[in-house]
Amino acid sequence: MIQIAILGYGTVGSGVYEITQKNAKSIKRKSGKEIVVKRILDLREFDDHPHKELFTKDFDDILNDSDISIVVETIGGLEPAYRFTKSALLAGKSVVTSNKELVATHGTELLRIAREQNVNYLFEASVGGGIPIIRPLNGCLAANEITEIFGILNGTTNYILTKMIKDGESFADALRQAQEKGYAERNPEADVEGHDACRKICILASLAFGKAVDADKIHTEGITNITLEDVREAADLGYVIKLIGYTKKTEDGRAICRVSPMLVPEGNPLSGVEDVFNAIMVRGDSIGDVMFYGRGAGKLPTASAVVADVIDIVKGADNKNFIWDEAPEGYMACYKEAVVSLFVRAKGVTKDDVEKVFGSDTVFGRADELCFITPPDKEKELDKKLEALGGEIISRIRVMQEED
Ligand code: HSE
Repeated sequence: MIQIAILGYGTVGSGVYEITQKNAKSIKRKSGKEIVVKRILDLREFDDHPHKELFTKDFDDILNDSDISIVVETIGGLEPAYRFTKSALLAGKSVVTSNKELVATHGTELLRIAREQNVNYLFEASVGGGIPIIRPLNGCLAANEITEIFGILNGTTNYILTKMIKDGESFADALRQAQEKGYAERNPEADVEGHDACRKICILASLAFGKAVDADKIHTEGITNITLEDVREAADLGYVIKLIGYTKKTEDGRAICRVSPMLVPEGNPLSGVEDVFNAIMVRGDSIGDVMFYGRGAGKLPTASAVVADVIDIVKGADNKNFIWDEAPEGYMACYKEAVVSLFVRAKGVTKDDVEKVFGSDTVFGRADELCFITPPDKEKELDKKLEALGGEIISRIRVMQEED
């Protein structure tokens, strides 16, 4: 029998408990041992819980219990999750987490401590909810040099954009529904301003390229500036708007990372990814493109990835090669070096102006504004051209290329 503790009985933590109860038999068959939740840490009262005796408000009850060998951290945020995780690892307990903020911020240190203590720090649930992505990157795809990863990494924003695009719902209504369904972060600003997707692309880039990416240095735009007009104009041109996390290894071995809304051409596999679903495209030098698709948020999908990590540890898997090194100064290349096209809505300019500056023939007149898509170029060059164009820029959204 393996005894575990759960830190934080919120959406994901309660899902972990539920899965360990309802699937106890099959989990035992697959892991070879019974997995028992011995303690649950939460500051709230759970007097109506059928096993209220499991709850404690004191982390030391878990830390000092030598029967507990695996700690599940589903508190979220940096503190006290960081302190608890570090103490548990130093006490020789493995830790499994869904906490992308913690992994993105302190992953390098926590992974090093885990390796030194000969225990595991696993975080499959931190990216893509229930989608297997962390282990495949390090396992099935390990023979590849990964060159690029991009995709839809946040369920809440994808749910909101889907409701805006398909049902013409307002941003506020769609966000409220995402919160009710348990998709959104405690502070949904992390979702809608792109910080959650930023942490996820940070983890993927660090793991895929082997060097720590600094989440604070990732250019991050959310979806709060996307209007129904943008959505309609994009649809008229054959695109849907998605929040895309993107990372690419440059030829000189550095990493470009970016989170921003993008116009995705209808027909691109990412364009059909709707509601809470996430999809992550991984480009490897030997395999080409692989897409991972599934529910990117929610109680049971995310808990399913957490419990799978626990089972992996119980089975004795050695995942201590989940690690990345400190990055040298200047490792992150400026996102403006990446080649993109821009979808632009502008006022006070003519078709002639646009054609002269961009040589673009995709210019459309709309009432008192123009709407056009620039030819692809480095973003820093497109900035200069937009400056030269003048007029009032109403919207400026990156466009995913057909071949992406
Ligand atoms: N708030 C996150 C999302 C939860 O919507 O994707 C899963 O990480």
